[in-house]
Parts: sequence; C-alpha cells; structure tokens
Amino acid sequence: MHQLIKHLLHAQAPQEKVIVQGWVRTRRDAKGFSFFEINDGSCLANLQVVVNEGTPANAEITHILTGASVIIEGALVASPAAGQKWEVHASRVELVGPADASYPLQKKGHTLEFLRTIAHLRPRSNLFGAVFRTRSRLAHAVHQFFQERDFVYVHTPIITTSDCEGAGEMFRVTTLKGEPGEKPEDDFFGKPAYLTVSGQLEGEALACALSRIYTFGPTFRAENSNTARHAAEFWMIEPEMAFCDLAADMDLAEEFIKAMARHMLDHCAEDLAFFNKFVDKEVAARLQFVVERPFQRIPYSEAIQILQASGKAFEFPVRYGVNLQSEHERYLTEEHFKCPVTVFNYPREIKPFYMRVNDDGQTVTAMDVLVPGIGEVIGGAQREERPDRLQEQMAFHKLNPADYWWYADLRKYGTVPHAGFGLGFERLLMFLTGVSNIRDVIPFARTPKNADF
Ligand code: 4AD
Ligand code: MG
Repeated sequence: MHQLIKHLLHAQAPQEKVIVQGWVRTRRDAKGFSFFEINDGSCLANLQVVVNEGTPANAEITHILTGASVIIEGALVASPAAGQKWEVHASRVELVGPADASYPLQKKGHTLEFLRTIAHLRPRSNLFGAVFRTRSRLAHAVHQFFQERDFVYVHTPIITTSDCEGAGEMFRVTTLKGEPGEKPEDDFFGKPAYLTVSGQLEGEALACALSRIYTFGPTFRAENSNTARHAAEFWMIEPEMAFCDLAADMDLAEEFIKAMARHMLDHCAEDLAFFNKFVDKEVAARLQFVVERPFQRIPYSEAIQILQASGKAFEFPVRYGVNLQSEHERYLTEEHFKCPVTVFNYPREIKPFYMRVNDDGQTVTAMDVLVPGIGEVIGGAQREERPDRLQEQMAFHKLNPADYWWYADLRKYGTVPHAGFGLGFERLLMFLTGVSNIRDVIPFARTPKNADF
C-alpha cells in the first residue's frame, strides 16, 4: 500500500521514491513548474507537490483542476517553504479522475448551510475532514474507556416493541401497505414495532448478568424539534452497571466526559488547533478546564432555586415541577457555575417510569449532565429495582405492565440496585469540537423534512 500523506509529512528522512494519492486542493503555476496542494483526508495538512515542466504525465498539467484525483510519484525532499518540513518533487503525474470548474468546493468561504447541501463532497473540506477524523478517534476512545474498565460491549436491538422513554417519539417499522382489511397482527412482527429510542431496557437485562455493560449504536427519535441539538437519528453510548447507585453513576459520567476531553487534547492536537482557530476560539481552553476541574453537582430543587433567583427573563418560566429547557441548562452551566453541572433527583412526574423513587416519594434518582454551549449531554438514573415499586411506577405513568413483563422479571429473580446513563455521541462531539450544529458532526444528518443522501 502507498503511504498516506500524514505519514509522509512526519517522515524522519528524505525518500527517493514515494507515491502520493489524493485529491487536488489547489494548483498554482509559475514559470517552468506548477505547485499542487494534495490532500488525502489522512490529516488536515496538504502535501505540496512540485511538478517541473516536461515531467511525464498522462494529462496536460493545466487540465488538472481542484477536485481531481491524482497519483504522483516522486521524491520526498526537505521543503524550503515555511510551515512545512517536506514536499514532493514529482517524477510522474497521473490524473485518475478529472474534475471541472463546476466542482463546488472551490477555495474557501462556503457557509455551513451550503455545505450541508453537498454532504457527499463536504468531507473533502478542511472542517469536515477534521470533524470526521475526530468522530472516529473518539469512537475508538469510547470503546477503550469502557473496555479498560471491564465493561462488556453488547448489541441491543434496533427494532423493538417497547417504548423505553415513554415519550411516544418512535418511528414505526412496518410491512403493512395501508390497504383495507389489513389487521395489526398481519404486520411482520405480529404487533406494532418501532426503531429504538434507547437500548437501556435490554441493556439492563445484560447488566443484570454481566455486571458492567455498554452499548454504542444508532438510536432514533421522531421528535419534531428542529433545533441545532436534535437529530432524528443519532448515536448513543449507554453504560449500565449492576450493584451500583446514583452517586457511582454520576462519578462514572463525570470520569467519562473528562476522559473524552483528555483524549481530544492528547490525540487530536492538529484537528483541535483547527477547531480552536476557525470554529470556536475557546474550545481548547474549555477542554483543559474540563479535564482539570471537578463538575458541580446539585439536586433539581436547588437548580430551580438558582434559576428563580437569577432575575433572568426566561422564555419558559421556571417553577418546581417543570422540565429544564435548554435556556435554563445553559444559564446554569454558562453563567452561574461556568462549568459542567450534574443535576439529580428530579420530580417523579417529568422522568420515565424506570427511575428509582426516592424515600420522599416525590423525586426519582435521575441525573442529567449539562455542559456549557450545549446543555444536556447525558441523561441517566439509578433504576427502580424493587418489584412492587416498579409496578407502582408503571401504573403512575399509565403503562401496561404486560408490555414490560420481562423487564419486571429482572426484579423478580435476583434483583440488584443498578444504574446507567445515555450519552448522545453527537452532542459530545459538539462540545469537544465547538461545532454548534448537530447536522455538522454526523456525516449525513437526518432531521425533520430532511433525509437526503
Ligand atoms: O436523556 P435521554 O432521553 O436518556 C435515555 O434515553 C436513557 N434511556 C439513557 C440511559 O439511561 N441509558 O437521552 C440520552 C442522551 C441525551 O442526554 C442526549 O445527549 C442524547 O441522548 N439525545 C439526543 N441527541 C441528539 N438528538 C436527539 N434527538 C437526542 N435525544 C437525546
Ligand atoms: Mg434526557
């Protein structure tokens, strides 16, 4: 295999013969030679190639335009130019696939909105190359974090017949054609089925056998919220631990976010410097801060008091019993505490049925981790492990216990206190890169009225 540009740029010594394969970012012509900037996506930096007049080539050099794919043979030599150690002096140029002047990614200055309309080509831009390399490295870091701590990676189903969050935001999966006379039991699974909103319920079954598990997979929500933080298809990481309470769950959540920030600082330096320069001038400092300082931890009731005492005119008025809106979450993290905050013990009414009811009978062992710039990145809880209380919770939330018989069974046989959380991978990426729209941290975003590509 040929060497990728990132390896050529980190070479220890000149090399007589190298092969570069990639896409042309720019070409400049001077008297007697041309300069090409080639990028292959392996790193942010381009490799400069100098092509002298008369170098063997299968096409006119002036016909090789921005966007074309090329293979270049040549020598890797020290570059006299500032800011780059090496350049290639071509001995042979091969145009593989031409591009013409209609190639949409000319020089720079494209808006993110425009780039979304060319989601098939935007990975060839500096920003999206950096985003998708970072996404890959962090996905690896997620597995590393949990594997090092003896969590077992489990695959929970994508098609499910239970609504984990009870919010009714599920996409229906069906083979029915909507023809007259069709009955629900004629459907493929014999009953209504959906794309999963969370692997948690199945994850609990596995945690109550393997002690520590995590999932990392796609989840789907038909929330009709067209915001910068909601996608209809997103990736969630869901650890679940048996013999675990809320405090240890919050500890893990905090440790996890810190580890991801650390990984970004240690392993994504070049792309991070790019984000810091062009996307969010505070992102690198923020990551350092996240790594070094403990998070704040407050009960929901205290969060409400702080918000009420803030004197802020919120769009959604604050009182005990309401869900925190993104404006409230952002006030807490950005203005009041100026750091990530974990809010716990929420009112029972506003959280799903599976959360453990506290001794006060009013609150449940929920916890949300809120971060500056985004709001909620993690939602989790200690689960209700007492069989009778679980039945009460289902009645309270008007769920049909028959739909959750197997989930209740986990409490009937060898029940244990257990806890876990879900982290939205795209929201984490937004936090760590400074990219402010969820559509720009996933290769092909799915949002209301948009499933192109
Ligand atoms: O808070 P949520 O709804 O929690 C659960 O689904 C639990 N079952 C998780 C668990 O305890 N195992 O979702 C978890 C996280 C949110 O904090 C958010 O980061 C992300 O998933 N999320 C979304 N990300 C992008 N687009 C959406 N529409 C999202 N909805 C939730
Ligand atoms: Mg939540």
